[in-house]
Amino acid sequence: MSKLDNLIGQATAIAHPNLAIIKYWGKENELKNIPASPSLGIALNELHTVTKVYLKHPSSNSEETDRVFIDEKLQSDRRFANFFANLRELVDKRNPKMGKFIITACSSSDFPSSAGLASSASGFAALALACTSALKFELPAKQLSALARTGSASAARSTFGGFVRLDSGAIYANQIYDENWWPELRIIVVEIEKEAKELSSRAAMERVKMNSPFYQAWISDSKKNIDKSLAALEAKNLSALGPLIRRSYLRMFSTMFSSYPPIIYWKPASLAVIILCEKLRSAGLNIWETMDAGPQVKILCLEKEVPLLIEHLKTQFSHLPFWICKVGGPPYLSNND
Ligand code: PMV
Repeated sequence: MSKLDNLIGQATAIAHPNLAIIKYWGKENELKNIPASPSLGIALNELHTVTKVYLKHPSSNSEETDRVFIDEKLQSDRRFANFFANLRELVDKRNPKMGKFIITACSSSDFPSSAGLASSASGFAALALACTSALKFELPAKQLSALARTGSASAARSTFGGFVRLDSGAIYANQIYDENWWPELRIIVVEIEKEAKELSSRAAMERVKMNSPFYQAWISDSKKNIDKSLAALEAKNLSALGPLIRRSYLRMFSTMFSSYPPIIYWKPASLAVIILCEKLRSAGLNIWETMDAGPQVKILCLEKEVPLLIEHLKTQFSHLPFWICKVGGPPYLSNND
């Protein structure tokens, strides 16, 4: 029997990372990967993760296992075990006669991975879409979001385009507005460092929950923050949304700074960019920065402010690359399979 006789299906999916403007930080249930804080995120149109998967029946007596490669490097099984277990549960329900299968996935992004640019969100969203498409399952959007969440909670948001909400305690995300809602909005992603972070967001969240004295305050505060943010988003009012974006990321980081040992993802250049934003705000620009579990800084502004902001970034940080992003759409399949 040739290798191809074992093939069940293959597919390639492309997804955008989803940047949280109101942060998910902390898990209500670690095993099921359920978020403890509500979040609101935006798909970043100019950044992509491409994931190709092959699903096949194992050959007899084979000890083949699932394998995931990111930029051609084999990843640890542990990172993907929960996602694959949930995928198999779904297959058992939908097609109990399918029999055993193994998965090979090859993924790459056009931005640094595991560095605080939400590559796990785009990665698991693309993986969920590619696997279910290789299986010829057409999942309702909420079910695809729930499957992606089992790999990484922020990935539940990345299975949608536009503006997406993931509630605390939720198993799937919901799209609030599509990518055409606020055409003037731009997100400038400033790359501070390319290197993968040393501490994963999962490990950081566990530490914070275990020993930051501010953790409970963070959770209750983020529940208050989300409703105000949704109202500001509905009104497309960046002056009202901006302070809530800033409050969310700074309060999230205060749980990290106050945990033991402290978690410090910031680099000197991250702080320098934050200070530049603060200075430009004082001079009247409507620009608002945010950060995730990594050193990169993302700045939200309206299209008309982009030239001036870029001029300042180029003058003061000529060595730092950046992307000017619009709001992106949902993940999609490539036609090349
Ligand atoms: O989904 P994870 O485990 O990669 O965690 C993402 C956490 C943040 O990026 C800091 C916030 C968020 O909501 O995306």
